[in-house]
Amino acid sequence: MNDRPVHLYGPRFQTDPTGLYQEMRAEHGPVVPVLMEGGVPAWLVIGYREVHHVVSDPAVFARSSRRWNAWEKVPEDWPLLPLVMQLPTVLYSEGEEHRRRAGAISDALAGVDAHELRTVATRLADRLVDEFCGSTGADLRAAYTARLPALVLSWMYGLDDKRGDLLAADMTTMIDGGPAAMDAQRALMAAMAALVAERRASPGNDVVSRMIGHPAGFTDEELVPELIVLLGGGNQPTGEWLGNALRLMLTDDRFADSIAGARRSAREALNEALWEDTPTQIQAGRFAAHDVELGGRLIREGDLLLLGLAGANHDQRVHQGVHGPGRQGNHAHLSFSHGEHGCPFPAREIAETIAVTGIEVLMDRLPDLELSVPATELRWRPSPWVRGVASLPVTFTPAPPRGDT
Ligand code: HEM
Repeated sequence: MNDRPVHLYGPRFQTDPTGLYQEMRAEHGPVVPVLMEGGVPAWLVIGYREVHHVVSDPAVFARSSRRWNAWEKVPEDWPLLPLVMQLPTVLYSEGEEHRRRAGAISDALAGVDAHELRTVATRLADRLVDEFCGSTGADLRAAYTARLPALVLSWMYGLDDKRGDLLAADMTTMIDGGPAAMDAQRALMAAMAALVAERRASPGNDVVSRMIGHPAGFTDEELVPELIVLLGGGNQPTGEWLGNALRLMLTDDRFADSIAGARRSAREALNEALWEDTPTQIQAGRFAAHDVELGGRLIREGDLLLLGLAGANHDQRVHQGVHGPGRQGNHAHLSFSHGEHGCPFPAREIAETIAVTGIEVLMDRLPDLELSVPATELRWRPSPWVRGVASLPVTFTPAPPRGDT
């Protein structure tokens, strides 16, 4: 077992993550010493069993980054700070406090009516398609996959389409991390604070009102960051999931053959995308509550463990040689993580409804959709943490807008 740390950056995370994880497993085993940007150390857990073990034992592998033993190595302007910065939200809370926050979030999300969600997602997907269907081509990422989840989530918060559009634009700007990102984040905070004040004065049938009225008794100061975590945690991976599944359908013969029967293949492609190209490749993380052995490594108290969800999904011990649509119905991937901090179940269902609807509407409206560049020219976003296409340029025969959306 090799002790030389692997650098957690570089182009192979985009061009060949599967090969890279295989090499890491062969050289280092299931728990890999890594150096993040700036030489900050961590353990990347890429064994299926080991990731499962870590997320199932929160008493040993805890969530609060206050426990981290490497804070003194972190420069003030460290680009990965948002991944570990302790904010008072569900993400970093532990024990009773976590149950209070996570319970309220799950209850608020479970209150979303499945039928209404489907109807609204269809309307919003149709509205987005209307914006580009009159031409002969579009970048589906910019025009569609990155926008649809934010619009649906905004509706779930009780916002009308106009405010939803503003929120969606701010979310995209913030996630893209350019010079306007900080302003967008401030605008988002202000929008959430205003929304909470409105709903306190006049509650409705929406996620924000349900969070306010929940017995968990959130203060405004607690609610605003929590609502932003929910939006960000929902918008980005759902958009990448939709985009990665569409990429699969447009590039992989096993799915291309069945594009005409999109209703069957949408769910298959989405499931396959979670195995092959899961949106959250690496999730940061857990912090060891005390010294512990894992995958033959000695993990010291306060060490950071990164959940290598993509690596775990590609662990041969779980793959058993089954690929493609034949894997339909096998949902044992770790793409939503697992355990106390795993993605809440109602959130997974909402994400799936958005993604299935997004594919079905697109295939229904633009049935001869195809890539406008060779598949080999498609690029992935430059990050080891998330997997999503940088753009998804397509062509199609122009179609009339539906207009009533
Ligand atoms: C409507 C869409 C979604 C919402 C509202 C949502 C919400 C959340 C929330 C609130 C958490 C924090 C749970 C906790 O710490 O207790 C979470 C965690 C997570 N979610 Fe989601 N999510 C959505 C979609 C997705 C999608 C599409 C994926 C990937 C396929 C995903 C993957 C994850 C992962 C990997 C975690 C981290 C789990 C961990 O640290 O163990 N989520 N999500």
